[in-house]
Amino acid sequence: MNLNLLFIGDIVGKGGRNAVKNCAANLRQKHTCSFCIANAENIAGGAGMTAKCLQDICPSPADVITSGDHVWDQKGFDLEIMSLDRVLRPANVSSLQPGNGYGVFRNPACGEVAVINLIGRVFMKNAVNCPFDTADRILKEIPRTVKSIFVDFHAEASSEKAAMAHFLDGRVTAVLGTHTHVQTADAKILPGGTAFITDIGMVGSENSILGRDVKSVLRKFSTGMPCKLNVVDENIRIDAAVISYDPVTGHASEIKSFSIMADL
Ligand SMILES: [Fe+2]
Ligand SMILES: [Fe+2]
Repeated sequence: MNLNLLFIGDIVGKGGRNAVKNCAANLRQKHTCSFCIANAENIAGGAGMTAKCLQDICPSPADVITSGDHVWDQKGFDLEIMSLDRVLRPANVSSLQPGNGYGVFRNPACGEVAVINLIGRVFMKNAVNCPFDTADRILKEIPRTVKSIFVDFHAEASSEKAAMAHFLDGRVTAVLGTHTHVQTADAKILPGGTAFITDIGMVGSENSILGRDVKSVLRKFSTGMPCKLNVVDENIRIDAAVISYDPVTGHASEIKSFSIMADL
């Protein structure tokens, strides 16, 4: 019997939070998804996460929250993450950073799901360890009985994301790209049975630039001056994907990406 997993792209600000709160449970039901992963690195004011903002989408339609380069943007989240056992920070950072980069979680439908959060190095500012080496290490650490393994590869370059997907093809259930906030049209199953999409997209305003106010972003680009980039909280679009997979083999059979306006 195949299972379905819902993966939701970067949740941006209050509008994104409200959209997830109001729509994600219905999406789960509509697509019969027993498990849901959401990237929430932009959930607090567009940059970073707080326990309160994560609480805001509770009772959470997401079983596991992933993150990325903005994980520490909110003051105090380095302490808060210690008590949030379903929230991941990228795995390939210094081991001195708090939190976990991967975890194995119970799937209410069947068995367990491993979720790995990695961050890319191409066109990214963070100084991080090799995501490929880190993925290899983690796959050795995950118990062999856990076949369903989902990777959020939070990265800018499509080449790096495709390389990771092929590197892990046949060894994980899916490699799902995040970070660019723009959904790509390349969702597919690789030869070894791994589902892949270069980028899931975001939960953010349709009338924005990556979730930010258009005028502010244009001012920043045209003047080169620092500008406050306000988050737009209206006309929220939900970008997500549903992955169908066999929990016995861990191989994916289908990945369907979609982009819908939130019914607020
Ligand atoms: Fe990011
Ligand atoms: Fe993001």
